[in-house]
Amino acid sequence: MSIGVVGMNYWGPNLARNFDRMQGCRLAWVCDRDEDVLARHRASYPGSTFTTRYEDLLEDAALDAVVIATPVPTHAALTRMALEAGKDAFVEKPLALTGADARELAELADARGRVLMVDHLLVYHPAVQKLKDLVDAGDLGQVFYLYGNRQNLGIVRADENALWSLGPHDISVMLWLVGERPSEVSCSGESYLQPGVEDVVFGRIRFPSGIIGHLHLSWLDPHKMRKMTVIGSERMVVFDDMETERKVTIYDKGPIPRTETYGEYIQVRSGDIHIPKIPATEPLRIVCERFVTAVADRAPTPSDGRAGAVVVEVLEAMSESLASSGRPVTLGTGVSA
Ligand SMILES: NC(=O)c1ccc[n+]([C@@H]2O[C@H](COP(=O)([O-])OP(=O)(O)OC[C@H]3O[C@@H](n4cnc5c(N)ncnc54)[C@H](O)[C@@H]3O)[C@@H](O)[C@H]2O)c1
Repeated sequence: MSIGVVGMNYWGPNLARNFDRMQGCRLAWVCDRDEDVLARHRASYPGSTFTTRYEDLLEDAALDAVVIATPVPTHAALTRMALEAGKDAFVEKPLALTGADARELAELADARGRVLMVDHLLVYHPAVQKLKDLVDAGDLGQVFYLYGNRQNLGIVRADENALWSLGPHDISVMLWLVGERPSEVSCSGESYLQPGVEDVVFGRIRFPSGIIGHLHLSWLDPHKMRKMTVIGSERMVVFDDMETERKVTIYDKGPIPRTETYGEYIQVRSGDIHIPKIPATEPLRIVCERFVTAVADRAPTPSDGRAGAVVVEVLEAMSESLASSGRPVTLGTGVSA
């Protein structure tokens, strides 16, 4: 399989490295419109062709797929060009800046029979897979709500707020775990460091079943947190990506349903705490392998164009809410079946 990577500054090199090392995969093209950026990578990939012209990749009939790691505002146009040229596409998150663009790309990929996969890499994290298995098997009982913490005193971006920069990770995981299209979102936040660029954001997603997802996203926080907590009627589970050996902790805790004999209060049950073994495989490697497999077998992935489009719709609706002091925004019906 022949792959070309476009966008080689900060994140793209991680993708190029993974695809280059993968069995059955050839990094045929390395592209960046900045010649200085390309120069940094020439020695690492002597067998690849380097170019500043994205079109060179699309014109190569032997190229199977493109990997797009350029800035977010360019994702929609570059992905559309790839799909129209008959290439499969792997796109960095988020898929596009608007729900309309993202839906159009999902529909275009389907119409052309092309693989479109978004790098929602946490969905492929072995710990998130464990959470998904627990939820789907009913081990948590009825899921009541879940919340994500993604905080740090970290890189302050000037071109993207905390919602668009950090939110795709937690939103994609929540959508994947709950498996429902959200009905309503709200969001509030503040810009303390740069006018108009929110550095702290609190988001809320409501699902039709009544499950609530809550997000705390910030790069202005003393804690470095990468956490997702899921509260069920039978068990509660925490995925903590800052931990090395305790990525997932399952608490056998829950409320005991009120019965007539126990009067006005609800008792709680508190049992064992269980730490399952989670494979330490790098999620980026898994996501890259999954893309290569999808190109080969054409099987759907959990972060295909449609899934990626819902993430963008949530981001877009949250932005609308953010701009109107947290007013709830209803989500439309989304991409057509
Ligand atoms: N999955 C993750 O955890 C993760 C982490 C970081 C960044 N990202 C994503 O990766 C993408 C890239 O982020 P970054 O921080 O590396 O951006 P960046 O701005 O540092 O680098 C982007 C590169 O793309 C090049 N480029 C732009 N338009 C181009 C075009 N039309 N043709 C060829 N080259 C072009 C630029 O010259 C630049 O070198 C973003 O979508 C970002 O959201 C994902």
